[in-house]
Amino acid sequence: IGQVDDVQELQRVCFATVPERYIRDGDDRPGGGGGDDDVRAQQRIPVIDLGELLRGGEEELDKLRLACEEWGFFQVVNHGVEEEVMYEMEKLAREFFMLPLEEKEKYPMAPGGIQGYGHAFVFSEDQKLDWCNMLALGVEPAFIRQPKLWPTTPTNFSQTLEKYSIKIRELCLRLLTHIAETLDLQPERFNGMFGEAVQAVRMNFYPPCPRPEMVLGLSAHSDGSAVTVLQQDTAFPGLQVLKDGAWVTVQPIRHALVINVGDTLEVLTNGRYKSIEHRAVANGELDRLSVVTFYAPAYDVELGPLPEFVTDEEPCRYRRYNHGEYSRHYVTSRLQGKKTLEFAK
Ligand code: SIN
Ligand code: FE2
Repeated sequence: IGQVDDVQELQRVCFATVPERYIRDGDDRPGGGGGDDDVRAQQRIPVIDLGELLRGGEEELDKLRLACEEWGFFQVVNHGVEEEVMYEMEKLAREFFMLPLEEKEKYPMAPGGIQGYGHAFVFSEDQKLDWCNMLALGVEPAFIRQPKLWPTTPTNFSQTLEKYSIKIRELCLRLLTHIAETLDLQPERFNGMFGEAVQAVRMNFYPPCPRPEMVLGLSAHSDGSAVTVLQQDTAFPGLQVLKDGAWVTVQPIRHALVINVGDTLEVLTNGRYKSIEHRAVANGELDRLSVVTFYAPAYDVELGPLPEFVTDEEPCRYRRYNHGEYSRHYVTSRLQGKKTLEFAK
């Protein structure tokens, strides 16, 4: 597969140039594609108040249903993850990415691997690369952890990630309860069938890029999770969501978290809720950090559309499959829109 460059090193050594492997074809560039992205720039993904949902607010539940149906993406506020916990995680993640390369390479992602520091989803020499460095770690259940890949510098990194992950897990459980309610399912329906849910985290660091209009921070993809929780620094936006054929930028809100529906929920609801394509763009002057948690069923769970969502009008769109097999398929494919979900067809 060959060596994938470290983009922070690239810009340190020679800031003015962007190697060919990062330069996207025209319609794959941030401004390309011919969509009405400028018109959409005014749009905002919905903001859901989880405190209101906890109090049983019917209006907020309707808002959540609409958010899942029409966007597949929303931000949550009053979500119960303390500001200090979020801030500390962001701070330590940033400190990690600022370490010298030799230090970060003590936690190398094996070729074709999915955990550690490096770049996942790279499978061929001619594949375009993302303007991004990543640290990916399996968190729960314990058997997926690779402790050797958990950074020991900065000190407190592992401890902070543990603490952060516990809070994010609670949030995922709550979200899935409310999402079930929006579908008139028993609140514990999803949580009940997910078994010992898998939780993994990926920290993405996007250094400034001299030609941001020609590269992507992260290729367009849908997530292989049930739900994803994304924390981003608020300095400037970078995440974009595909809405009715155009890219909508997610405007960071202080202390909010961005939630999206993943492939698992699309399958379970037989497409009623969709796992939406998204991507990240780079910036010319500033770097950007995101901390992304993927929450998914246990590997031995068998998935397929729930009977409630299969009717004469809505015939079954996906086959039954084993989630572990789907996960393997996902991590051994390159990020390419919604292509991985074809596995379930
Ligand atoms: C992701 O989709 O995993 C990350 C996107 C972002 O960094 O905003
Ligand atoms: Fe994603």
